[in-house]
Amino acid sequence: MKRIWVVPFFVLAASWLVIGTSFAAEEKGIVAPVEEMTIQGEKKSARFSHPVHLNLGVSCGQCHHDSEHQPLTDKDIAAMENSQQLRCASCHNEDFDKQELQTPKEAFHARCKECHKQGVNGMKGPTKCTDCHVK
Ligand code: HEC
Ligand code: HEC
Ligand code: HEC
Ligand code: HEC
Repeated sequence: MKRIWVVPFFVLAASWLVIGTSFAAEEKGIVAPVEEMTIQGEKKSARFSHPVHLNLGVSCGQCHHDSEHQPLTDKDIAAMENSQQLRCASCHNEDFDKQELQTPKEAFHARCKECHKQGVNGMKGPTKCTDCHVK
């Protein structure tokens, strides 16, 4: 008689596990890429690693903001339908209101190089051209 209970328990446990994992995957949504990425310019490109920067204790909103310039949280980003709108050049292009922030060079240097110079949480970043530009 006892056997009858053993089988359903395992079936139930297994299905909980499956449901649990798929919920977790869905809830996560869009997350920061783990691999180093190459930010492509017209002539030059630069390398950028999320893990290196997230390890400094900075939040997503330190770099990512919306069209009102409000910082985006990891939850805001997770809920996005796709990550295209995170691309800096989707806003910082020739139609951008502020002339001095129209090109990727201007927007990226203002964000990347400035912080590397000023430092964050007591850590400075590299400022030589070739530290960021791979070619
Ligand atoms: C902290 C990182 C960093 C440093 C240091 C840096 N850059 Fe950049 N730069 C970028 C990023 C990111 C971009 C946007 C991606 C790209 O175009 O390579 C960019 C874009 C550019 C562009 C536009 C390239 C294109 O093809 O559109 C030029 C030119 C440029 N940088 C020159 C320089 C020079 C010269 C130096 C050194 C004096 C330098 N950068 C130092 C990160 C950096
Ligand atoms: C130090 C700056 C910085 C921080 C902090 C940062 N990001 Fe990013 N992220 C970038 C840059 C730069 C890009 C490339 C943008 C581009 O290609 O124009 C990027 C791209 C992305 C992309 C990919 C967009 C694509 O190309 O498809 C995702 C997803 C993303 N970030 C998520 C996050 C999340 C989530 C966090 C916080 C946990 C975060 N980022 C924190 C700078 C940052
Ligand atoms: C959805 C549109 C949008 C996207 C995407 C976007 N920006 Fe911006 N950005 C703005 C607006 C709006 C402002 C405010 C301009 C002003 O002061 O009038 C701004 C301001 C800035 C400034 C100057 C003020 C400051 O915060 O220091 C920098 C630098 C900047 N953006 C860099 C970036 C970088 C780097 C990325 C990609 C990681 C990015 N932006 C993505 C819209 C955007
Ligand atoms: C909030 C400050 C901050 C911003 C914004 C920032 N960085 Fe950094 N970055 C740092 C610091 C600090 C280090 C040194 C980290 C270390 O030594 O562990 C660093 C290290 C690096 C390195 C060398 C480590 C590695 O990955 O090999 C590169 C390349 C780099 N950053 C590129 C960029 C680019 C490109 C951007 C803009 C898209 C950027 N950073 C934006 C603070 C920042």
